[in-house]
Amino acid sequence: MSQPPAPAIVAPNQTAIAEAADLLAGGNLVAFPTETVYGLGADALNDRAIARIFKAKRRPRFNPLIVHFARSTDAREVVVFDERAERLASSLWPGPLSLVLARQPACRVSLLASAGLETLAVRVPDNDCAQALIEALGRPVAAPSANRSGQVSPTTAAHVAEGLGGTVTLILDSGPCPVGLESTVVDLTGGVAQLLRPGGVTVERIEAVIGPLAPADRGPPGPRAPGQLASHYAPDVALRLEATTVGPDEALLAFGPEPLQGATKALNLSPAGDLVEAAANLFAMLRALDRPDWQRIAVMPIPDHGLGLAVNDRLARAAAPRDTLVEELPSG
Ligand code: TXA
Ligand code: MG
Repeated sequence: MSQPPAPAIVAPNQTAIAEAADLLAGGNLVAFPTETVYGLGADALNDRAIARIFKAKRRPRFNPLIVHFARSTDAREVVVFDERAERLASSLWPGPLSLVLARQPACRVSLLASAGLETLAVRVPDNDCAQALIEALGRPVAAPSANRSGQVSPTTAAHVAEGLGGTVTLILDSGPCPVGLESTVVDLTGGVAQLLRPGGVTVERIEAVIGPLAPADRGPPGPRAPGQLASHYAPDVALRLEATTVGPDEALLAFGPEPLQGATKALNLSPAGDLVEAAANLFAMLRALDRPDWQRIAVMPIPDHGLGLAVNDRLARAAAPRDTLVEELPSG
């Protein structure tokens, strides 16, 4: 069988943005950078294009997508904003925050993007290329992270090509994503705002704008409650968390100025102990250490505040036993 052609990886100049927008308008998929991770984009109003996303990622149909807008006024046309949404949008957009809100009755975004729910996750990304692409298409862009379901999210164009090479023809490349973790997902459809996924905007910053967030209900994953358990970000090699020693058969994912000694191979998320730097490095370092050369990746403790909450969330998913998770948890 002949291999599909390798995707073109191109700098997001005007020509490339116009070509990408044409592909999207024709119902095709395009991978593009955001400040968080690379996304696999489709015209959010086109059912067939959205269906292609689920197929390319092998993503369960009950796991809904985030829809991206160039401006918050455009998002207001498809979902119902309440006062909390107004305040969050004006203080934290553009930025790594996705809001789950009720669909407007006349919302033209594909129902497939909502995976059968009456809600839609929306965000305005803080990335020039993403903004230019959405503007050039003139429509919202639905985009999950540009990885196969169950894999670690891509923070470079090369990661996208590795994981989705056969299914996407064009990858816009603006270098490594500065945030490095997916957006924070907050559900505003109930009386109490719920944190569905910790991410690139800290809980502390969100709570400073709208007050306390409730943790997500840990009901069984499925159509009513996607999002909170929605990934297992699994490397092939097992992870051992909170490591205070490192064995001869382990690679080390270190954090801070005093990395454990004696590992055959070690990478440090942030020698300075900076959580922003650690978040930006997390996925690329997990990929780099995901080699059969060692039994496990030992991970040093990471403080559980600020961006550390999202880093620890992703590490916990990556460390969870696979056989239960693959069946039970939808992946992003
Ligand atoms: O940073 C990001 O959010 C990246 C970039 C590309 O924007 N996108 C991303 O998408 O991470 P994805 O599909 O990998 O993760 C979306 C998460 C999933 O956990 C999904 O279940 C949740 O958001 N989600 C989306 N729509 C939802 C909805 N209507 N209700 C509850 N959860 C929702
Ligand atoms: Mg994802």
